[in-house]
Amino acid sequence: MASSVAAPFNLPADPHSHAGNSPVRVRHLVLDLTVDFDSRTLAGSATWHLANPGAAQEAVFDTRDLAIELVEGLNASGQTGPVEYSLGEANPILGQALRVALGAETTALRISYRTAPAAAALQWLAPAQTAGTQPFLFTQSQAILARTWLPCQDSPGIRFTYEARVRVPAHLLALMSAENPQQRNATGEYHFRMAQPIPAYLMALAVGDLAFAPLSSRTGIYAEPATLPGATHEFADLENMVAAAEQLYGPYRWDRYDLLVLPPSFPFGGMENPRLTFVTPTILAGDRSLTSLVAHELAHSWSGNLVTNATWNDFWLNEGFTVYFERRIMEHLYGREYADMLQVLGRDALHHTIEEIGVASPDTHLHLALAGRDPDEGLTEIAYEKGCALLLTLESLIGRVRLDTFIKEYFARFSFQAMDTATFLHYLRAELLDKEPGLEARLNLATWVDGPGLPTNAPAVTSRRFEAVDHTLAQLQAGAAPAALLPLTAAWSSHEWVHFLHGLPPTLPAGQLAAIDATFHFTASGNAEILAAWFPHTLRAGYEAAEPALKNFLRHIGRRKFLVPLYRALLAAPNGLQRARNIYTEARPNYHSVATGTLDALLSGRT
Ligand code: BES
Ligand code: ZN
Repeated sequence: MASSVAAPFNLPADPHSHAGNSPVRVRHLVLDLTVDFDSRTLAGSATWHLANPGAAQEAVFDTRDLAIELVEGLNASGQTGPVEYSLGEANPILGQALRVALGAETTALRISYRTAPAAAALQWLAPAQTAGTQPFLFTQSQAILARTWLPCQDSPGIRFTYEARVRVPAHLLALMSAENPQQRNATGEYHFRMAQPIPAYLMALAVGDLAFAPLSSRTGIYAEPATLPGATHEFADLENMVAAAEQLYGPYRWDRYDLLVLPPSFPFGGMENPRLTFVTPTILAGDRSLTSLVAHELAHSWSGNLVTNATWNDFWLNEGFTVYFERRIMEHLYGREYADMLQVLGRDALHHTIEEIGVASPDTHLHLALAGRDPDEGLTEIAYEKGCALLLTLESLIGRVRLDTFIKEYFARFSFQAMDTATFLHYLRAELLDKEPGLEARLNLATWVDGPGLPTNAPAVTSRRFEAVDHTLAQLQAGAAPAALLPLTAAWSSHEWVHFLHGLPPTLPAGQLAAIDATFHFTASGNAEILAAWFPHTLRAGYEAAEPALKNFLRHIGRRKFLVPLYRALLAAPNGLQRARNIYTEARPNYHSVATGTLDALLSGRT
């Protein structure tokens, strides 16, 4: 069975990489970089050892906004000499192809370069944008931004191991998606090694005033010193999560699993950089209520980092499996009722997204067609929640035992390899569907993968705890005073509150919001998910008491998932464009390019 599955070299061409079609592939990287906060540049060299130099005439790399200073060829005995290269036409999304001529003896290429101060992957933070007194730098490479900080074959189907030497100001610590130091040294020079092959989108670097606290022998937290105690409290279950994940789907293949808590401008909730997940501080709620995000990034250590989407059209293979896996971890640790709440919130978000994109849009297919577009456009709930829903459907048809066996074998069989949708379907048929007459028809597989919307055979998801919330909402709507509901809400988690806020009628007048706020204190909440669900109500109603908290939120938090709906709600409010632009002008320097890219368009009226 397995032998009939296509090898990675038969994968579809990657429409988002110039290097995807390079006859020569990289195998190992030696990165040597100096981090200069004054000029906001990284400068140094990337030495690429080639997998198959053979008879090929050239090697192709992706670059975007890089200044290439010199390219040298290395032969097997390490001798070097400058070689010819050319940079192709600049494409605003894909950047420029770097084509390097290969001599007969060339086994490696050393590319000396520097980054642009506005490099899209990098965010350079002033001390005031951190929790401390030092500057901070971090990268965000997914989907195709690695090429803005190193010349690379920036296609998820191409993997390499790496080692790096990074020089930073002596009082700062550098960390990568690799074996990491646990404390600062006096020289400011750090060495890294990633022994397992990874694609370029998992390259990561962070530099700042960072401290480390161990949680178990293989897990721990890096954070700014002021953030570290709260973070170690929040993620106390980290080792249990890794153990639960291993119990479900096989051994953790990356040795250590550490978290890095970033400053609040981090544009995502989390990023699964191998060995070192990057997370937003907005999940530090104080009550461990938002840790499913960590389970999600941890699950990527299998779905995504071990078995990797071959192109961004196959993104659902990364995210759909990861969402399913995340909820299995949460169920394992906290029970079915807890996981059910996450499923319902996810399904609600999916319906909302389908409505937004349009129920007939091809962008609601699992298998996407992103050629010619920024792969960022594929970053919707479709990949996440429709992908998860497909696995739930399969679970409902074959049962968990068989599904778990299948998934575990899938991760083992394709470890450290790329996977595209067609190959996955082939494997799924061979391992499961073809073994049982009628199963594929009952699954309705083709409709899931190449059809729009949510297929009707998706199992309904329900939550007993949310039914209690709905009951409370009904009482409120029937005229109960908010304070009278307190006995019902006393034990609610933030998930129940978010469901409650989603269920509040969108037409509540400011006076009623004031009464609700006086009882439940949403405006003063320290939970970012609750605030993000509350502010759309306050904006619609013109409830001004929430305005300072909203402004504070938008000024400090750079997580795009919160910013986009909040700016949209602001735009829809009276005098919205002016108010939104006023806040944005002030807040924009605190946002990463990943967020400003989206918000610039939104606030210019282009989307
Ligand atoms: N890998 C993604 C983040 C990502 C995807 C960045 C595509 C750039 C391009 C990460 O695992 C993720 O999904 N993060 C989510 C959190 C999750 C709990 C849904 C996020 O950041 O909101
Ligand atoms: Zn993810």
